[in-house]
Amino acid sequence: MNTVTVSASKQYEIRIGSGLLSSLGSAIRSLAAPKTVCLVSESTVFPLYGEAAKKSLENAGFRVVSFVFPAGEESKNGATFLELLNFLAQNQLTRSDWIVALGGGVVGDLAGFAAATYLRGIPFVQVPTTLLAAVDSSVGGKTAIDLPAGKNLAGAFYQPSLVLCDTDVLSSLPEDVFRDGCAEVIKYAILYDAAMFSSLEQTELDFDREQIITRCVQLKRDVVIVDEFDTGARMKLNLGHTVGHGIEAKSQFSLSHGKAVAMGTAIVTRAAAAMGMCPEADCRRIVSLLQQFGLPVATEYSASDLFTYALSDKKRSGGSVNLILPHAIGDCAIVPTPVQQLESWIQAGL
Ligand code: GLY
Repeated sequence: MNTVTVSASKQYEIRIGSGLLSSLGSAIRSLAAPKTVCLVSESTVFPLYGEAAKKSLENAGFRVVSFVFPAGEESKNGATFLELLNFLAQNQLTRSDWIVALGGGVVGDLAGFAAATYLRGIPFVQVPTTLLAAVDSSVGGKTAIDLPAGKNLAGAFYQPSLVLCDTDVLSSLPEDVFRDGCAEVIKYAILYDAAMFSSLEQTELDFDREQIITRCVQLKRDVVIVDEFDTGARMKLNLGHTVGHGIEAKSQFSLSHGKAVAMGTAIVTRAAAAMGMCPEADCRRIVSLLQQFGLPVATEYSASDLFTYALSDKKRSGGSVNLILPHAIGDCAIVPTPVQQLESWIQAGL
């Protein structure tokens, strides 16, 4: 097992290793003594791991209540959020009780936002069950729901009290969902770690999960501790996301987040190369690595469609959007780009 400690507004551990799900109850017990734990999960994950999580919590002496909602991004909305808050109230959870988010990014974001707001905040644990959640969304305290106008438009920065990443759980992921997480792994390599990028070039999907997840989490931790509230360095984690969120929204979420981010990353990288900001050789390697992991690198949508959706991106500030552009593998820059130029940027990368 590897442990990474995050010292942000709250200090907490991220534990990564095989078989950790069975230690969920004792891990919470070593931190606090809640009476009730609300296990929040969704309809695909709960049948696979709900019982194991519940058993571990009950063995540690907790009363467990479970809130399970239909799987999918469509559930990450105001209605499910209010249903969850009402469920917590009906089950009389108090400020000393805990929430456990068992699932991928949708579960973590929704349960985390409920934890941030119910009784003005109760503790929660992230138990990521997808690679994407393990390396990105479960770490760093971003919680949110989607609004009809766009993704993650209502939320809070609210750090978990523990992240427990059981690498065995990732083995049951459909390969396609695992590939989605690889888009975020590749993102970290492009942003910060040329050596990890080279090592990924030597592997396929069978990379050492504990080692790669730990490295990604360390890189994210290093960013979160300097910019917890996303006003500077943390924005780089948005590489590929401004365009990616546009692609995701335009597809009405029929395209997964990971695939949309892969397309967005390829588009901004080609745009940076076309504008002379990124060497062609690095651009080719980035696009090739995404393809090597079975990720798409082009979209059928037009620059004008993507421009419209990209305008609702949270990284927009006044009249400009902060684009994250690779200067080289392992080195990216935040480039404030006037909104009027955004469409031609996207066009350059299509
Ligand atoms: N997922 C990007 C961030 O946590 O900032």
